[in-house]
Amino acid sequence: MGILSEENSCMCFVSFLFLIFTALGMVPPPENVRMNSVNFKNILQWVSPAFPKGNLTFTAQYQSYRTFQDICVRIASTECDFSTISKYGYHTLRVRAEFANEHSDWVNITFSPVDDTIIGPPGIHVEVLADSLHMRFLAPKIENEHETWTMKNIYNSWTYNVQYWKNGTDEKFHITSQYDFEVLRNLEPWTTYCVQVQGFLPDSNKTGEWTEPVCEQTNNDDTVPSWLVAIILIASVFMVFLVLLGCFALLWCIYKKTKYTFSPRNSLPQHLKEFLGHPHHSKLLFFFPLSDENEVFDKLSVIAEDSENSKQNPSDSHSCGTLSGQEPQS
Ligand SMILES: *[C@@H]1O[C@H](CO)[C@@H](O)[C@H](O)[C@H]1NC(C)=O
Ligand SMILES: *[C@@H]1O[C@H](CO)[C@@H](O)[C@H](O)[C@H]1NC(C)=O
Ligand SMILES: *[C@@H]1O[C@H](CO)[C@@H](O)[C@H](O)[C@H]1NC(C)=O
Ligand SMILES: *[C@@H]1O[C@H](CO)[C@@H](O)[C@H](O)[C@H]1NC(C)=O
Repeated sequence: MGILSEENSCMCFVSFLFLIFTALGMVPPPENVRMNSVNFKNILQWVSPAFPKGNLTFTAQYQSYRTFQDICVRIASTECDFSTISKYGYHTLRVRAEFANEHSDWVNITFSPVDDTIIGPPGIHVEVLADSLHMRFLAPKIENEHETWTMKNIYNSWTYNVQYWKNGTDEKFHITSQYDFEVLRNLEPWTTYCVQVQGFLPDSNKTGEWTEPVCEQTNNDDTVPSWLVAIILIASVFMVFLVLLGCFALLWCIYKKTKYTFSPRNSLPQHLKEFLGHPHHSKLLFFFPLSDENEVFDKLSVIAEDSENSKQNPSDSHSCGTLSGQEPQS
C-alpha cells in the first residue's frame, strides 16, 4: 500500500516543486528551452510551466558584449525570433517567466548560428530528356537576408549530395555535386527514378535535410545517332547524283535517236571504210599535208557510227536500247 509507481513518484516530485515555488511565491522558469534554427531562422522555443495563479509572460534576451539586450519582452507566446543576431560566433541567450512583479530565474543556452543552424532542403527541379534526368538545384535562402543570399554564400565548401533509385527498389545510388546543375545519364528507359538532394559541408561533415523525393519516368532513347544522320545524308546525295545521271543518259539517248531519225543514214563506201580501218592510212588521213593547194579534195562527211561504239560498250547499248526502243544498225 505504500508502494508508488514511477509515474506517481514523478507526479509527486513535480507537485513538490510546484508547492515549493508557490509557497515561496516564486515563478517557475520556462521548461524545455531549445533553439529551433533552420537556414538561420532562429526561433527560441520553450514550454510554459504550470502556474495556477494566472497566465505567465516571458522575456528573452541575448548577450551582446557584456550586456543583455531584449529581443522579446513580456510576451505571452512561448517562442521568440532571434534571426536578427549575428550569424558568427557564440551567443548566450536566456529567457525567463514572469507574473505580475515576480519572475523566474533566467534559463541560459549558448548558440552558434553557423554551427548549429539546420541546413534546410534545397530546391530541386528535374527534367527528363530521353534516358537522362537533368537536375537543377537551388541552395536554401537565408532568413533576413537579401533574396539572392543563399546558404552557399555562408559555407565555402557547400556541395549537394544526391541520391537516386529506381522507384520500388531499395538500392540507392549517390553522387556529389559542387554545381547547381547535374545530369544522371544512361538510365534505363521507361523507368521511374526518384531523386533526393541535401546540402552537404565536407569540411565540417555537416549534412542538411533531404528534399522530398521527386520521381520522374525516363523515355526511350529515340535521338538519332549522328553516324546515321551522316549515312542518310551521303545516301541522299548519291541518290540525287544517280537521278541526275539518269536524266542525262535519257537526254543523251533522245538526242541520239532524234539525230538518227532526222538525218539520212550516210554510210561510207566500203573501200573508204577499209582504208580508214587501216591504222596507218587513218593516220595518214589525219596528218595529211594541207599545204599543197594544187590538190583537189572531195568533200567528205564522216558520221560516227553509234552501233560500233555500242558493240564495244554493251551496258551503254542496253540502257540506250531500252530508252529509245530501237537501235540504229549500221
Ligand atoms: C490566460 O490566457 C487565456 C488564453 O491564452 C485566456 O483565455 C485567459 O483569459 C487568460 N487568463 C487571464 C487571467 O488573463
Ligand atoms: C544564466 O547566466 C547568468 C549570467 O549570464 C547566470 O547568472 C545564471 O546563473 C545562469 N543560469 C543558469 C540556470 O545557468
Ligand atoms: C512508385 O512505386 C510505387 C509502388 O512500388 C507506386 O505505388 C508509386 O505510384 C510509384 N510512384 C511513382 C511516382 O511512379
Ligand atoms: C560524417 O558523418 C557521418 C554521419 O553523419 C559519419 O557516418 C561519418 O563517419 C562522418 N565522417 C567523418 C569523416 O567524420
